[in-house]
Amino acid sequence: MITKEQQRTNFSGEFTKSDLVGKRVTVNGWVLNYRDHGDLTFVDLRDRSGYVQLVFDPQANPDAHAAAKKLRHEDVVAATGIVLERQPELVNPRMATGKYEIKIDKIWVLNKSKTPPFQLDEPEIGEEVRLKYRYLDFRRPQMYNNMLMRSKMTGTIRNFLDDNGFLEVETPILNKSTPEGARDFLVPSRMQHGQFYALPQSPQIFKQILMVGGIERYYQIARCFRDEDLRADRQLEFTQIDIEMSFVTQDDIIDIMSKMIAKILKDNYNTDIKLPIRRMTYKDAIDKYGIDRPDLRFGMEIVDVTETVKDCEFQVFKNVIAAKGMIKCLPVPDGNRLSRKDLDELIAFVGRYGSKGMAWMRVKDGKLESNIVKYFSDDVQKKLIDATGAKEGHALLFIGDANSKVVYDSIANLRLEVGERFGLRGKDKIELVWVVDFPLFAWNADENRWDATHHPFTAPKMEQIPMLDTSPGEVLSDAYDLVMNGIELGGGSIRIHDPEVQSKIFRLLNIDDESAKVKFGFLLDALSFGAPPHGGLAFGFDRIVMLFQKLDNIREVIPFPKTQKGQCLMSETPSGVTKVQLDELGIRAVEVKANK
Ligand code: AMO
Repeated sequence: MITKEQQRTNFSGEFTKSDLVGKRVTVNGWVLNYRDHGDLTFVDLRDRSGYVQLVFDPQANPDAHAAAKKLRHEDVVAATGIVLERQPELVNPRMATGKYEIKIDKIWVLNKSKTPPFQLDEPEIGEEVRLKYRYLDFRRPQMYNNMLMRSKMTGTIRNFLDDNGFLEVETPILNKSTPEGARDFLVPSRMQHGQFYALPQSPQIFKQILMVGGIERYYQIARCFRDEDLRADRQLEFTQIDIEMSFVTQDDIIDIMSKMIAKILKDNYNTDIKLPIRRMTYKDAIDKYGIDRPDLRFGMEIVDVTETVKDCEFQVFKNVIAAKGMIKCLPVPDGNRLSRKDLDELIAFVGRYGSKGMAWMRVKDGKLESNIVKYFSDDVQKKLIDATGAKEGHALLFIGDANSKVVYDSIANLRLEVGERFGLRGKDKIELVWVVDFPLFAWNADENRWDATHHPFTAPKMEQIPMLDTSPGEVLSDAYDLVMNGIELGGGSIRIHDPEVQSKIFRLLNIDDESAKVKFGFLLDALSFGAPPHGGLAFGFDRIVMLFQKLDNIREVIPFPKTQKGQCLMSETPSGVTKVQLDELGIRAVEVKANK
């Protein structure tokens, strides 16, 4: 409880200007640090705005001084006193409020704290302990700032979308599964034993239904759930800025969403980006960068040299060519910066992506040099220099394999690794690109069928619909991803609004009419009642906050994230349940871990 008298008049971070000097103020907050100098006691008091020094003088205010001497880290305090300007030699330039202090005459200890498991202003604190004591972690200025910026950005997004005629509509959390490609989280039904709800991987089908319902412009800051393996940019539950629009083209969606991203950056970071954001076809992205989410903060484009080296005598390449594989080259300017040790490390590095090796050469005095150049005739060497545009000092790094996936994975990651080693991937740079013209399908060799590249509701390019019958693998879609610095911020597509085409796509995906009816009957029904042409996209909001805050772990910007093992260390989730709970749900577990 706090009384009116104890309530703050000012935040601790406000004492940066002389206008408060001589005034009586009251501050509320936590003890960051305390120093007993014998004659005087100093306490740094922190709240969410910053911290300020409180001074306690035993001569002037013995009671307050006695109380201050008992303060420890993270005790909660209200204190009142007069603002003073510090003597010039006592100014602390490392503190935003370092020119001032408050001479306290009355202090109230509102609550004591146990000794915290970490000192809040330590530079390096282990993540586990931060997650276990997240409430203490939030008191750190970095975390507060992440939460503040996250909140500001949702504000910008809501205002922008409201201004542009979007309606925020909520969609159910207890759902039928939607085929976003990840594993569903299932919730057993108590009322229908043996039946399950699935938590939404995204609101995909519902937002399309809203378009059929004539909402025309929908958005939702939507929580999504995917039971997939976690990475630095993935969580089990995450937040999407989910969008759907009717009577629009791909260009309309890309245009308005680019403006939204520009506004988030302008309003919250005072950063301008050039519109329109550039576009790149999926094919170009794969050809030049080996990946559909290229990091464009640096050049170093990949070159296919399979043809160029076809007459060489290098056995490894000859084998790859004989096996109808491919050989890709990464030309690295200033390649002399790569020492032999670096090259050895890079060879080990590409092994992680399945590559059996990495060949390399350097350009010296206009000629190629390495332990393998003897297998390349002067003519082939010249062609290689021409094809790769290599200049004096370039290093040429080669990946060849019969398996194209190994080649692309290895060379794309090799490019990123070299970029990293050369310091070309600075977090201050923002390079955005819309990747467009994705193939509609990807061949699933394991199951001998087509998979949807984006999801099964994505429309083929209108003029290519007839090709669905003849060459489905070549059909492109109206799907697009926004990529920033090599990370996919969001993606979407124009949807199929014709039930005939939708059924045809389901069949190509090996979803027969009967299962399509069971799984998505309501969508097919809805499409047959005058569905408007529509499309949309979803941004990963956590990823946006992570990148704009220049962080490289999504857990930093999610208030209560899960660890790599899918656990919340603070609440100890997941946890066991009682047998009674399971019985009610009609569930028998192989092993029941009861709640403590
Ligand atoms: P998609 O599956 O591409 O599309 O997801 C959209 C964006 O959500 C983010 N994202 C994630 N963020 C954190 N953790 C995860 N596990 C995770 N998975 C995805 C990414 C991604 O770009 N319904 C479609 C969108 C549409 O077509 O409108 C969808 O969900 O930033």
